[in-house]
Amino acid sequence: MRVLLSQNDVRQGVERMAKFVEDRFGDSPITIVGVMTGSVMLLADLIRLLKMPMRVGVVQASSYRGETTRSELVVNSDLTPDVAGREVLLLDDIFDTGHTLMAIVEHLRRKGARSICTAVLLRKAERKEAPIEPDFAAFDIPNEFVIGYGLDYRDEHRNLPFIGVLEENDLGSGE
Ligand code: IMP
Ligand code: MG
Repeated sequence: MRVLLSQNDVRQGVERMAKFVEDRFGDSPITIVGVMTGSVMLLADLIRLLKMPMRVGVVQASSYRGETTRSELVVNSDLTPDVAGREVLLLDDIFDTGHTLMAIVEHLRRKGARSICTAVLLRKAERKEAPIEPDFAAFDIPNEFVIGYGLDYRDEHRNLPFIGVLEENDLGSGE
């Protein structure tokens, strides 16, 4: 494993995100929604830097691999906070193909959000498939598998305070 973004790099990225959010919303009340589980650290660190009145909630998306189709994303409504008529800031750890962000934006729209602004810590180069771009990405990174600061490999390593790259031989073929 090698370090891609140090703890200090990550902190500066989160500070830039906070600046973006303050410029965008000023003192208006917002609802910040983090995508579970990868955005937990980002969510906790970002909200401490913001001063506008806010509500905080989470959403969860799970993918089910169909027999013939590409895996489908289902958003768990039980966790979704009440966003009707609210300005929403949607947070995720990483924008890869964009399908997750796209599905959750649609879900929040159906729930009546007045507006939805999207921010991610990381964006992978050349992977985009869905017709959506995050409004803010703190870092553009190469197309490598990253862990730490909320991001997992098989549900582990989320606790690392920096972003690391897993090398070829750390990535098993699956059990
Ligand atoms: P997307 O739907 O392809 O944009 O994928 C986004 C989701 O895939 C993220 O919320 C992550 O959970 C996961 N993901 C994508 N790339 C990585 C990675 O490099 N490391 C860990 N998780 C990743
Ligand atoms: Mg995730």
